[in-house]
Amino acid sequence: MYYSDEIVEEIRAKSDIVGVISGYVSLKKKGSNHWGCCPFHNEKTPSFAVSENKQMYHCFGCGESGNVITFLMKYENYSFPEALRVLADRAGVQLPELEYSEEQKKRASRRQRLLDVNKDAATFFYYQLRKNPHGEVGLAYLRKRELTDETMKKFGLGYAGKNGGELVAYLRKKGYRDEEIRDAGVATFSEKNGLSSQFWNRVMFPIQDANHRVIGFGGRVMGDGEPKYLNSPETDIFDKRRNLYGLNYARTARAGNMILCEGYMDVIAMHQAGFSQAVASLGTAFTPEQAHLIHRYTEQVLLAYDSDGAGVKAALRAIGILRNEGLTAKVINMRPHKDPDEFMKALGREAFQERIDQAENSFFYEIRMLESNYNVKDPEERTKFHREIATRLCNFEEEVERENYLQAIAEKYYIGVDNLRKLVANYAAAGIAKPVERPKSGIQSKTAAQEGAKRAQKLLITWIADYPQIFPKIRPYISPADFTEELYAKVTERMFADLEKGNFQPAEIISTFEDEQSQKEAAELFFEKLPEMETTQEKEQALRDVILAVKRNSYEHFKQKQAERDINAITQVLEAKKALLALEKLRITLDE
Ligand code: GTP
Ligand code: MN
Repeated sequence: MYYSDEIVEEIRAKSDIVGVISGYVSLKKKGSNHWGCCPFHNEKTPSFAVSENKQMYHCFGCGESGNVITFLMKYENYSFPEALRVLADRAGVQLPELEYSEEQKKRASRRQRLLDVNKDAATFFYYQLRKNPHGEVGLAYLRKRELTDETMKKFGLGYAGKNGGELVAYLRKKGYRDEEIRDAGVATFSEKNGLSSQFWNRVMFPIQDANHRVIGFGGRVMGDGEPKYLNSPETDIFDKRRNLYGLNYARTARAGNMILCEGYMDVIAMHQAGFSQAVASLGTAFTPEQAHLIHRYTEQVLLAYDSDGAGVKAALRAIGILRNEGLTAKVINMRPHKDPDEFMKALGREAFQERIDQAENSFFYEIRMLESNYNVKDPEERTKFHREIATRLCNFEEEVERENYLQAIAEKYYIGVDNLRKLVANYAAAGIAKPVERPKSGIQSKTAAQEGAKRAQKLLITWIADYPQIFPKIRPYISPADFTEELYAKVTERMFADLEKGNFQPAEIISTFEDEQSQKEAAELFFEKLPEMETTQEKEQALRDVILAVKRNSYEHFKQKQAERDINAITQVLEAKKALLALEKLRITLDE
């Protein structure tokens, strides 16, 4: 946080959300909310609600949610401090000069030092390539790969000399301490050589973050040495999961899509040919964090992975990750060439543009790749293939989309459309839905039980927010630890403490989270749809069910931890058991 919680809260409290949002969206009061057409998705009938009581907004159509600060961040694309400054101006609040703690200052200056080392190393490599006779090998190599001088300059390409000592000597002369050189990731200590760079005899690709700052390197060996590519290790400034090679240029390409490649050379060849929307992951597999990063700039990703077996596998994996992130994906066919770099050299940019225009829908691609696992001439295998198609079709939750894919696939693979529809309906009814190539780590698909538990926890939070009078009654039996989702636990911790002090403002809790995604997830917790019920008695019954569901899940959760020999879980299990017994007898009333 740049500003203290107090000042953030002062500004938020002074910025009436209805007033602010009215400046952007036309709102009509109906019941306890103001309603309008959601500015974050396309709609004709209003499902965007602004709550004066909660000082929050929520769209029942697309799920966007937050407080007044979130709204500006989302609508105006502001960062947290930017949104705060605008609201402060509007409310006539004087923002204090940014205060940094000693700790923050130290961390900032250390990060700056590591960036400086990387920048100077990039300069060193850059001149080695051009001014040092040893660099001729590198220059000849890059020229052979048909890179123009302009391209080499744009990407800051360089050369790491014939041993690892020269860079270290250069950086020491620049005044860096050995630890700084090591921590920046450009050299390592060893008994034999002391401090020495791992980069030598390589063409160097500086890796830049979205703001053009060098945060690491990839180096390609000259000749057939191993490894072919050597990358900087992860450091305090280089997080491989959260950066993409080429993003510093791709982010402003505005091509309506981004092209995801496998390698550095692919990205460079694409940019040289005018496709400056190309990026690559950094010597590691594509991650959910990178998908999220891409989503800031575009809705559509075109995959330009190698056309070999490993490339297909990587593409299938990436499709799952992109889908989880809510991005649409298409696959570019590079055949008969191996990768974008070779394609571009052989056939040129027009041919590649054609391939972009013909890029295959990722679902069709998945099914086509799947087909190659079966001998479809054999009736038994053909049946298995159709079953697999049906289970995958079950994953489309929206009926129209599912039906459209179903028809298209039936036609493509000569399957009776009614038969396939029946098969899908049966599978859907049985609750069979096989996740499509989900990533092994990172975002996992949730099981139904997990989803149910999450929903119960959300419902309970909304219940308490809407009927705070129930809080004292249930407080002895429910604690933040019962909220097994980490973010929910954080929210309830704050919420329960505020309720106990008699000063609970849901919108205040939202701005304790700085990033938009957490703000949205936290805000959603206060807008879960409570069941519509006539009588108070029915409502009380529904609430009781929710509390019991939350507690039971918590009990199971800690029992599981206990089974995994977590000592701390033992008391939690006992406590939950006792609370469950008490709750079953407790009468919960909604009236004061
Ligand atoms: P060139 O032979 O230079 O054309 O390489 P390429 O761009 O065709 O690369 P390749 O398909 O072999 O690999 C694609 C990407 O995977 C590279 O850009 C690297 O990021 C990564 N990679 C390849 N080989 C290695 C390796 O040995 N170690 C590491 N860490 N990454 C590698
Ligand atoms: Mn290649």
